[in-house]
Amino acid sequence: MRGIVSPVSRESGPYLLELQEGTFVRQHRKLHHRAPRLLASLLLVTAVGASLTAAAPATAAGSGTRAALGDVIPAPASVDPGGSPYRITERTRIRVDDSREARGVGGYLADVLRPSTGYRLPVTTHGDGGIRLRLAKGPYGDEGYRLDSGRSGVTITAARPAGLFHGVQTLRQLLPAAVERDSVQPGPWVVAGGTIKDTPRYGWRGAMLDVSRHFFRVEEVKRYIDQLALYKFNKLHLHLSDDQGWRIAVDSWPRLATYGGSTEVGGGPGGYYTKADYKEIVRYAGSRHLEVVPEIDMPGHTNAALASYAELNCDGVAPPLYTGTQVGFSSLCVPKEITYDFVDDVVREIAALTPGRHLHIGGDEAHSTSHEDYVKFMDRVQPVVAKYGKTVVGWHQLTGATPAKGAIAQYWGLDGTGAAEKEQVAAAARNGTGLVLSPADRVYLDMKYDAQTPLGLSWAGYVDVRRSYDWDPGAYLPGAPASAVKGVEAPLWSETLENSRHIEYMAFPRLPGVAELGWSPRAAHGWDGYKQRLAAQGPRWEALGIGYYRAPQVPWPAE
Ligand code: ACM
Repeated sequence: MRGIVSPVSRESGPYLLELQEGTFVRQHRKLHHRAPRLLASLLLVTAVGASLTAAAPATAAGSGTRAALGDVIPAPASVDPGGSPYRITERTRIRVDDSREARGVGGYLADVLRPSTGYRLPVTTHGDGGIRLRLAKGPYGDEGYRLDSGRSGVTITAARPAGLFHGVQTLRQLLPAAVERDSVQPGPWVVAGGTIKDTPRYGWRGAMLDVSRHFFRVEEVKRYIDQLALYKFNKLHLHLSDDQGWRIAVDSWPRLATYGGSTEVGGGPGGYYTKADYKEIVRYAGSRHLEVVPEIDMPGHTNAALASYAELNCDGVAPPLYTGTQVGFSSLCVPKEITYDFVDDVVREIAALTPGRHLHIGGDEAHSTSHEDYVKFMDRVQPVVAKYGKTVVGWHQLTGATPAKGAIAQYWGLDGTGAAEKEQVAAAARNGTGLVLSPADRVYLDMKYDAQTPLGLSWAGYVDVRRSYDWDPGAYLPGAPASAVKGVEAPLWSETLENSRHIEYMAFPRLPGVAELGWSPRAAHGWDGYKQRLAAQGPRWEALGIGYYRAPQVPWPAE
């Protein structure tokens, strides 16, 4: 998040305020804002434990409802309905190729279908008909698939396991919402007939979770991963360090986690991932075909590290831990050599735990680092990332330095961000820097939906469901070549969010729209059709126990 710092005060963290008897709210005072029109939100008030207007109790909605072949989010690239539907029965088998990966996808599908259908659904390499998951050469790319549905079965064909996995998500959504329940439902389990051919528009379809401002347990991260998988996201960006907490164990600098991770916004106990925890997140994400992109934010947003090791500070004095929500007051000490020992150790250890190609080095809101130091720092640090085999990703301020060859800049400005800042990013894009688009007033999932939303921030404005969906990543940044756009990402900052319930309230219903922007061809977008498909997801979320916000813009089915 956020804005220009001035003045800096460390006393303005959240505190508890008794609103009325027995009702506590956590209140943060934000002292700086990017946009004056947002001064109305100087105080942000978060209901803690108050009723979020989440979904109504589950109904039997959807158990007999049939989805048309194209009623899927993200919208498939091509849909050709027709022919007989397929009905899953107690005799259905899930037939897979004899490979570990295909069996893995088959097992995942069986795990989704068995509890609600009550069928055995053996995963097997033998037999005819049923649900067939087939790996074959074809025009599918790394993530695309083809789905054929007819009387005798459903076949999903892909060149790679990720394509099979995404095809399985489509199949899931073609089944009634009740298929997501964890107890036996009546069915029937019918898939419309026809053919879907589907490949993604972009290779980067990301979601970011800020585990620093508030810490989220491994189980909570896994729950979000499962939700991301349903919409074909393929990157989970973890914001692992910030002023308020360092969340991953680093053997060579152990106090980063044990001390730097010991609190969070509001002064709670915080926490950190052991290396085993992180590996488990990476493994679980991988089983859902998501790459974990770890972020260590530098040179700013580093108070937790600076508090843990006095020697990282230019004056040799460790600041106290910080539990407020301001930004821009901390900086690693650019002139000190030990800074680069630290960076090398941290990047080496995290790169070694991370099978994915990318490592995010932050670089945003370095308001306490001079421009000259910022450029020097990035010139030294980016080669360290390359040395350990990773591609640099940074927030778009990285384009104010010299992005390394092949680097990716993540744009988090607003529609109204100044032309000069946008042009700096566009110029880098023309020069070969890739772009991931996360415009804050479009896809920051922590922005309030409207003035009434009990959670979230509003420094980038209110972001309603339509606003988060109704824009084109391919044409967003003037002067940036469309080919530079690698995709989109929906960040979820956690100043006001403390648990899965909070995550879900902010992510749903906006998250699927970002998935559609990232996956579906531009021609498939359109609010009027999208809002109908989105509404049909409501019963699915209820079946999954996802507490979503019943946004008034969406024509939800009657409860
Ligand atoms: C950011 O929101 N500071 C990337």
